[in-house]
Amino acid sequence: MNNTTTKISAMKILQPIIIGGVIFKNRTMFPPLTTGYEDKDGNISSQSRAFYTRLAKGGTGYIVLGDVAPVRSFAPTPKLFDDSQIDSFRLLADNVHAYGAKLGVQIFYPEYDVNVLNALFAAGEMNKVRTQLNHDMQHFVNEVSEDALMDIIDKMCACAVRAQKAGVDVIQVHGDRLVGALCSTQMNTRTDKFGGSLENRTRFALMLVEALKKVVPDMIIDYKLSVVTPERGKGGVDEIDAPEFAQWLEAANVDMLHVGQANHTGNMADTIPPMGVQLTASLLISQVPLSKRFPSRLAPQGVLSILTWVRVYCKMARLI
Ligand SMILES: Cc1cc2nc3c(=O)[nH]c(=O)nc-3n(C[C@H](O)[C@H](O)[C@H](O)COP(=O)(O)O)c2cc1C
Repeated sequence: MNNTTTKISAMKILQPIIIGGVIFKNRTMFPPLTTGYEDKDGNISSQSRAFYTRLAKGGTGYIVLGDVAPVRSFAPTPKLFDDSQIDSFRLLADNVHAYGAKLGVQIFYPEYDVNVLNALFAAGEMNKVRTQLNHDMQHFVNEVSEDALMDIIDKMCACAVRAQKAGVDVIQVHGDRLVGALCSTQMNTRTDKFGGSLENRTRFALMLVEALKKVVPDMIIDYKLSVVTPERGKGGVDEIDAPEFAQWLEAANVDMLHVGQANHTGNMADTIPPMGVQLTASLLISQVPLSKRFPSRLAPQGVLSILTWVRVYCKMARLI
């Protein structure tokens, strides 16, 4: 046995694992990956359903549906902002459950003013859309009001309730995008209670987790902990602060952490670098105190609980 084989067998990758009191049949995960296969209104299309069902059929234990928006937005991602959409999500959940996989939805809020951009789109003002988007990607995090932030939490909670009604097992909080921008020392220059210290920058994230725990107390909460390293990324907590933030998330009763390189936010051209450029994305389940298990670097050999790939997985399954 070489080193890699030893490590993988030590992880018991094909054995069940209990997370938040729920048995996951194995420790393989298909992490969030926006496919663009959904309908324009965000409903789960037959193409999207077929994609995820094929992953479940192939044996994946846990599938996360990436970038699920709690609002109507122009972006080609799944959306769950209205009760009428629950049925299409339920069909997906039923399909992956039929093969024993668990389904998560990754709830996110974009780092731009959705209402302003929707109005510009509706008016066909494409140049203004571009200008506004470029502006917002840098500045919305600092311009969004406290009232608007509270409204965003309400919308994300309503989305989680709909996901629960659809039979979804897990809510994953997207710790990049607006949440990550607020956590970021590079992007957040606010001077109110959401800016400045680590405590202030992570306040929104923790308020969101607390609100989710209230509205869907029986669902598993997974937090995508996007980490900004000296090498890459903008929207997330700095690597040096990540262990402390992880402990706050644990104290807020988050059930698992999906630890990854921050790679989405702050510069549209910087989103999702080519394979091999960024550090490993990995998943750590919080089942023992995080202070003892949190990786000092994003290559936490020996502390992983679930194995996750994105592009490698797609290639193996011939999905891309
Ligand atoms: C096409 C594509 C879409 C992605 N969409 C999302 C997403 O919706 N949410 C998210 O958190 N990460 C998303 N990611 C990032 C992946 O989850 C992962 O962190 C990244 O691809 C690095 O892992 P890899 O090198 O194994 O592909 C996406 C990646 C790719 C390639």
